[in-house]
Amino acid sequence: MRAIVQYRYGDLDQLSYREDVDLPSPRRGEVAIAVSAASVNPGDRFRVSGIPRLGRLAFGLLRPKVPVLGIDVAGTVVAVGEGVTRWKIGDEVFGETLGSFAERVCAREDRVAARPRNVSLEEAAALPVAGITALQAMRDVAKVGPGSRVLVNGAAGGVGSFAIQIARALGAEVTAVCSGRNAALVSSLGAAHVIDYTRNDVAHAIEAGAAPYDAILDLVGTVPLARCIASLSERGVYVSSVGRTGWILRAALRSLVSRRVRLLVTTTSTANLEALAQLVDAGAVRPVIDRRFDLVHVPDALRYSATERTRGKSLVTVGGAGG
Ligand SMILES: NC(=O)c1ccc[n+]([C@@H]2O[C@H](COP(=O)([O-])OP(=O)(O)OC[C@H]3O[C@@H](n4cnc5c(N)ncnc54)[C@H](OP(=O)(O)O)[C@@H]3O)[C@@H](O)[C@H]2O)c1
Repeated sequence: MRAIVQYRYGDLDQLSYREDVDLPSPRRGEVAIAVSAASVNPGDRFRVSGIPRLGRLAFGLLRPKVPVLGIDVAGTVVAVGEGVTRWKIGDEVFGETLGSFAERVCAREDRVAARPRNVSLEEAAALPVAGITALQAMRDVAKVGPGSRVLVNGAAGGVGSFAIQIARALGAEVTAVCSGRNAALVSSLGAAHVIDYTRNDVAHAIEAGAAPYDAILDLVGTVPLARCIASLSERGVYVSSVGRTGWILRAALRSLVSRRVRLLVTTTSTANLEALAQLVDAGAVRPVIDRRFDLVHVPDALRYSATERTRGKSLVTVGGAGG
């Protein structure tokens, strides 16, 4: 089958597009999916480089334990492993598994869900990692509810674009921090207020806001932690999903002494994916698709991701020939 593979950690130039990769077969509790599309996450770049090194605990200490790249997937079940009860051949699913930049991938049956009907199967590939991150940040960690005041720093990207919509669906009033070129986008997703970081000192704008925030979701780590905490309401929480080692360590240390600082650790499950799909089918959440790349152009997709200018999500279209 066709796939994008990496055999060692390094830069994007050592990724290779192969047409002779063995089709994977589902093990016990797994389904095999003919991939319609995958989507691009910053985590894909971290997996290529093996940096932050902490990630190697999950991806392989010395070299990638799964050589095929990609995490998000949407496609059609083409085989089921022993013991699988939830899925049958022909089901259209979306979810998370390592190895989705390929024509076929296997996934644990409890890491996928029936795809939402309100978006195409391809678009459903944009949802899992970024959508679940946003859902767990807003619903489970920040416990956002009606009237909550929420600030999303890094609002125009994959996680941010979902976080605005999910916070709105939970009844919150959202302030989005992004560049001016994305102001109209974040407003269309439900942000009541926009802070353009190219024209304003964000730390000052946050502190000078009309009222403190009940939740700050930080995706970029550009405002000093202490100033974020100072802008929280009495029961407010600061949730960090910033993928930089230094910031992760700083937020982790702070979280040890303050319950108001939380480091986001997400878990993908069928139940969480179903909750996301319900929001999509209810019309409360839609994926914002920036660019589409063919499988062979995954290195270009990752280079674009590295610019940190993605508006919403980029898709890798595969076409599902992995049956
Ligand atoms: N904990 C987890 O499980 C988990 C899961 C997913 C992601 N993450 C992490 O969460 C972070 C966000 O992920 P993502 O998928 O949303 O990334 P992304 O889609 O690549 O984010 C791109 C967006 O970042 C915005 N941005 C760049 N610099 C900014 C700045 N200085 N201030 C405000 N916004 C800025 C850009 O908007 P403008 O062009 O308007 O600047 C762009 O729209 C990453 O660090 C990622 O590693 C963690």
